[in-house]
Amino acid sequence: KKRFRALRWSWRLTWLTGLGLTGALAYSIYSLRHPEEQIEPDPEKKTLVILGTGWGSVSLLKKLDTENYNVIVVSPRNYFLFTPLLPSCTTGLIEHRSIMEPIRNILRQKKATVKFFEAEATKIDYEKRVVYISDDSEIKGDISHTEVPFDMLVIGVGAENATFGIPGVRENSCFLKEVNDAQNIRKRVMDCVETAMFKDQTPDEVKRLLHMVVVGGGPTGVEFAGELQDFFNDDLKKWIPEIQDNFHVTLVEALPNVLPMFSKQLIDYTESTFKEEEITIRTKTMVKNVTDKYIEAEVTNPDGTKAIETIPYGLLVWATGNAVRPVIRDLMDQIPAQKNSRRGLAVNEYLVVNGAENIWAVGDCAITNYAPTAQVAGQEGAFLARLFNTMAKTDAIEKELQHLSNTQSQAKSNDERNEILDEIRERQKQLRRTKQIGPFQYSHQGSLAYIGKERAVADISWLSGNIASGGTLTYLFWRSAYLSMCFSTRNRVLVAVDWIKARLFGRDVSRE
Ligand code: FAD
Ligand code: NAI
Repeated sequence: KKRFRALRWSWRLTWLTGLGLTGALAYSIYSLRHPEEQIEPDPEKKTLVILGTGWGSVSLLKKLDTENYNVIVVSPRNYFLFTPLLPSCTTGLIEHRSIMEPIRNILRQKKATVKFFEAEATKIDYEKRVVYISDDSEIKGDISHTEVPFDMLVIGVGAENATFGIPGVRENSCFLKEVNDAQNIRKRVMDCVETAMFKDQTPDEVKRLLHMVVVGGGPTGVEFAGELQDFFNDDLKKWIPEIQDNFHVTLVEALPNVLPMFSKQLIDYTESTFKEEEITIRTKTMVKNVTDKYIEAEVTNPDGTKAIETIPYGLLVWATGNAVRPVIRDLMDQIPAQKNSRRGLAVNEYLVVNGAENIWAVGDCAITNYAPTAQVAGQEGAFLARLFNTMAKTDAIEKELQHLSNTQSQAKSNDERNEILDEIRERQKQLRRTKQIGPFQYSHQGSLAYIGKERAVADISWLSGNIASGGTLTYLFWRSAYLSMCFSTRNRVLVAVDWIKARLFGRDVSRE
């Protein structure tokens, strides 16, 4: 009887928890779809211009009290992109719209209105305090170039793809940074497969077309290679068995090993998993030239000698890291204090661009002591939000103090004067507390990467130590961590549905 009662209670508890979770989900969806009226910004307040809608800028916007400033956002992309799941879009495991969050949705949830211009910042004139912007979308109105003046500017424009000036890279390879890159890769994988199946195709040409080469053994290259091999194992070879013997993924890396930011143990684990998956890793192989059908690479042999090798490919994905955007390079050229900076804007510990006043930089376009990751950009954005919220509070208190000291000098009695003095002391204390915001400090939560075959590697900081782990459990952790990190409930639901869809029906092998 006791056991039956316990069972009944646990059933009720499960039921109630489920009901609570459904209620919370329904409420969060309802509030997303029914935003409150927004207040108009006060024209007297300072104009804060934010460039970009990536990790840095959006995490700043998320936490910023927008009623304190006239906020203007400029970006050629009217959405936020959850980049950690971008490699999964290249094979259709996840649909690209599931990891995009419209910036309009984000801005509409803010207390005070934020202006958004879908445009590229083409030049920043830091002395004039003006950003020149240009609408580079397909449809243009009468005005497609204009300028936006600012009092404060946050630059979060990220970085572009590094090619190191290697000939042929831009013309012949796919990158993996934006949504259209992932779509492009998805199309080209299927194009290579279908072209290889074309009537009377020669065996050598079939081999070339089905050779998928990834250059760059950083996390982007490794994750993409893993996803592509999964696509082949789970779906492609089932539906198109003729490609079975020739479809091959090769990862080319200039250094002696892949994933240099991970521990030795996890590098070894990744390399052995790739071996099992039959992904070839070519380390100590530096690509020097790219044509439309093959790459030329300098290979360092075990005895130290070097040789040039030609590697034919059908699809080439170029993932060799970040380069500085032209708009940033131009700004750096204007500021003498940036003379020695090579990889991006040098900033101080408050993320202020060295040599410029009231200009801050976050994310991949700023040079700090940390790696250019979403984790760093997100924390930098959140730090700036705290800083700006504090600065606004400080301004308000200072104005109040000014007003109180004027009133004190006009006070008629000693009692009145003492009362005001007490209030001044209280405000001064408040001001000191508010001003105590320390410099930016990054808190590393760890590194995670998917390596294919439902395995992931993780270097996690935990209880001031490090845990290195790899395998299926880590993969489940990777999935749940990324699902919880997704921008919104909407993204979370869409990603989870995509995973279930792919598990039930497989990935779609049609070429759009
Ligand atoms: P971005 O997020 O790149 O955003 C830049 C924004 O600026 C974009 O909105 C862009 O449209 C806009 N912009 C560009 N030019 C201009 C201009 N001229 N004017 C105005 N706006 C402009 N990091 C992790 O920590 N974990 C991961 O798992 C991870 N996975 C990744 C997977 C892939 C495939 C890639 C490519 C990167 C991954 N990263 C990951 C790295 C991470 O995405 C970047 O470090 C992060 O996006 C940097 O944020 P950001 O705000 O500086 O730039
Ligand atoms: P990366 O800079 O990390 O790696 C690029 C690799 O390309 C390097 O190992 C380099 O040696 C190699 N390379 C350069 N030129 C070459 C050539 N000519 N031939 C052969 N190899 C060459 O770049 P990646 O992977 O694009 O990452 C960029 C940033 O984004 C990094 O900071 C990374 O940490 C972050 N990121 C993080 C992820 C995660 O945490 N899961 C996933 C993807 C990116």
